[in-house]
Amino acid sequence: MENFRYCSPTKYIFGRDMEKETGKEAAAIGAKKVLIVYGGGSAVRSGLLDRVCESLRNSSIEFVSLGGVQPNPVDGAVRKGIEICRSESVDTIIAVGGGSVIDTAKAIALGVPYSGDFWDFYSGKAIAKEALPVGVVLTIPAAGSEGSGNSVITLESEKIKISLRTDFVLRPKFAIMNPELTVTLPAYQTASGIADMMAHIMERYFTPTENVEITDRVSEGILKAIIEEAPKVMSNPQDYQARANIMWSGTLAHNGICGTGRKEDWASHAIEHEISAMYNVTHGAGLAVIFPAWMTFMAKRNPGKIAQYARRVFDVKETNDEAAALEGIDCLKAFFGSIGLPVTFAELGIANPDISEMVRRLHINKGEVIGGYLPLRAADTTEIYRLAL
Ligand code: NZQ
Ligand code: ZN
Repeated sequence: MENFRYCSPTKYIFGRDMEKETGKEAAAIGAKKVLIVYGGGSAVRSGLLDRVCESLRNSSIEFVSLGGVQPNPVDGAVRKGIEICRSESVDTIIAVGGGSVIDTAKAIALGVPYSGDFWDFYSGKAIAKEALPVGVVLTIPAAGSEGSGNSVITLESEKIKISLRTDFVLRPKFAIMNPELTVTLPAYQTASGIADMMAHIMERYFTPTENVEITDRVSEGILKAIIEEAPKVMSNPQDYQARANIMWSGTLAHNGICGTGRKEDWASHAIEHEISAMYNVTHGAGLAVIFPAWMTFMAKRNPGKIAQYARRVFDVKETNDEAAALEGIDCLKAFFGSIGLPVTFAELGIANPDISEMVRRLHINKGEVIGGYLPLRAADTTEIYRLAL
């Protein structure tokens, strides 16, 4: 196990009706004037936005709002939000939505106190040191942004999707999580969210670091619970207990606990981000296509941890590591298929992906070598994209 510092300072407020506490939680972090950020309309239609506004009014907190954030969020909404915050003297941002809304809120929070262009933080020109406080009312368990220090934004003109990773600056101050809010999710979004949270655990599980038994077992436990709960939410979207378990899994998958003491991988996310940047597909569905391809590539070259995953998560009995790894990959693909997810580019709706362009962009945006489990160069990532055809 490697040395580590782990701090997950977000306050989680979990359960039925908890969105009514938004005003109280915002007041507790000193909010006087809030920017509410939300998406394309689901929070309006469900009445959630009204309940959040009422809760802020009850705590005598003023607010302005910015709606219309799209999935795979782009820089335009961030710039608009920064302008509003400056002209309205906003001191706190509240995201009402999923990863796209939260990541936009985080980018706005970074941009407001910064004199240059907010994209400097994403391009690596500036280091994130301060941001306005961000609170979250989560509506979809998926990206885990409610507990992460990350924000993923696309520079629309260049179709460059960058994940900015900070240790603490961008961690939300609080995250309100009411599983009932997720019953309105389309099945495809629920399933894609499940793939994303599993991927967040697996990016940390597939590591070259040895002797991380406790972190492995925590990760395997969450993965097994997700695999058990997923069919319940897919067959009965109203199942509160299953929704609650899936919602909490999404946070634990990505708040850092599954990465403690070890090197992480993140190649599959980098490879996927080029797909969602170019073809605007749902991130989790893109991962359901790419992760099995990445694992297949690794099964031949470094099967050990993939075989352990197969045996411990999917109860594969095979004793040969490469064969066990391949059997585990088949189990994972079958699981994704069973919840309605694609596992090939064709199933994702991209018949002829421009692999050479994605590889070119990937290594310009993320570096010549990516990944922590085994380092990958352009020839390797080309093969992984091909394995996903
Ligand atoms: O926009 P609205 O109308 O709200 O609809 C959204 C959107 O169409 C809908 N939705 C959300 N909650 C709903 C709902 N529909 C009905 N009922 C509800 N309760 O779901 C759609 C997807 O929303 P989005 O926010 O895009 O989903 P997700 O949470 O999966 O976020 C994806 C984004 O997060 C990034 C991804 O790359 C992608 O851009 N990620 C962010 C990470 C982070 N910050 O730590 C890590 C992840 O790996 C990921 O890269
Ligand atoms: Zn993800």
